[in-house]
Amino acid sequence: MIYRPRRLRINPIIREVAAEVRFHKDMLVYPYFVEKGKNITAPISSMPGINHFSPDMLVKDVERGLKKGINKVLLFGSGEEKSAEGKAAYNKDTIVAQAVKALKKNFKDELYIITDVCLCAYTSHGHCGIIRNGRVHNDLSVAALVRMALVHAEAGADMVAPSDMMDGRVGIIRQALDDANLTDTAIMAYSIKFASAYYGPFREAADSTPQFGDRKSYQMDFRNPNEAMKEAGLDEAEGADILMVKPALAYLDVVARLRQQTLLPVACYNVSGEYSMVKAAAGRKWIDEKSVVMENMHAFARAGAGLIITYHARDISDNGW
Ligand code: PBG
Ligand code: ZN
Repeated sequence: MIYRPRRLRINPIIREVAAEVRFHKDMLVYPYFVEKGKNITAPISSMPGINHFSPDMLVKDVERGLKKGINKVLLFGSGEEKSAEGKAAYNKDTIVAQAVKALKKNFKDELYIITDVCLCAYTSHGHCGIIRNGRVHNDLSVAALVRMALVHAEAGADMVAPSDMMDGRVGIIRQALDDANLTDTAIMAYSIKFASAYYGPFREAADSTPQFGDRKSYQMDFRNPNEAMKEAGLDEAEGADILMVKPALAYLDVVARLRQQTLLPVACYNVSGEYSMVKAAAGRKWIDEKSVVMENMHAFARAGAGLIITYHARDISDNGW
């Protein structure tokens, strides 16, 4: 026999040499849900291990994470007053701006802060934009999202991440940031965000379930990989710094193809439903949590993601997986 591939699998030392893909915790981004108040740590029942935090408790938890090397966070606001147009999303002292300021004050540039920019946690109807004639109106929504991105950036966010899927918002946000002299604020676009049932637990956490209809008029149809590449190309042309695919596990083909198409970094979002499925099965001892989580992380890296947004980040870093 000329070829015996098993020779390079004989022991851990040679397996390390043969390993084609590496995962490192520097790839991880940890999402947080922030709400107003003090001394709040409120568990989210559909996402075991994940909590809502008030800004003071957020600072404490981020400090614990930083000690273990988690230096990138993605912030979501929740519990703000809801209205038809989601105005609380861009008040100067909106909860996300408060959280950003508290984190920057405590951690300076040790911590890289990304904020989610979308209206759905702030609108009474739960849609990601503003409604006119029963539909989500693209350009009115973009105008509100621009204001929200500016509030976050002015508070000190290092990167804003629009997750609304309105057309043209990346370019308009980039222009507005530049006009406000916020040229260093980066944009990570949720470029390829599919209308997915895997967001279920998140919507409970953010209280952002649409009160009528669904998100299919703005989020993508999961049957359309070519359209996905088109969406990513538009965001790149509009000035996005990083392109994201979401969800991750069910869309690794899209991550791999985007990695081939763009020269920008590619991120993937290992979403709430993907997380909670692993947690639920592991809780019943049907799967080994560490092994499954790390298999998934390597799958993201192998597909070409340079950045992995995941609720597993703290389990990985705290336990040194
Ligand atoms: C809001 C938003 C969602 C997620 C991130 N930003 C939910 C949605 O679009 O309904 C999902 C995150 C997750 O499931 O972990 N635009
Ligand atoms: Zn939204």
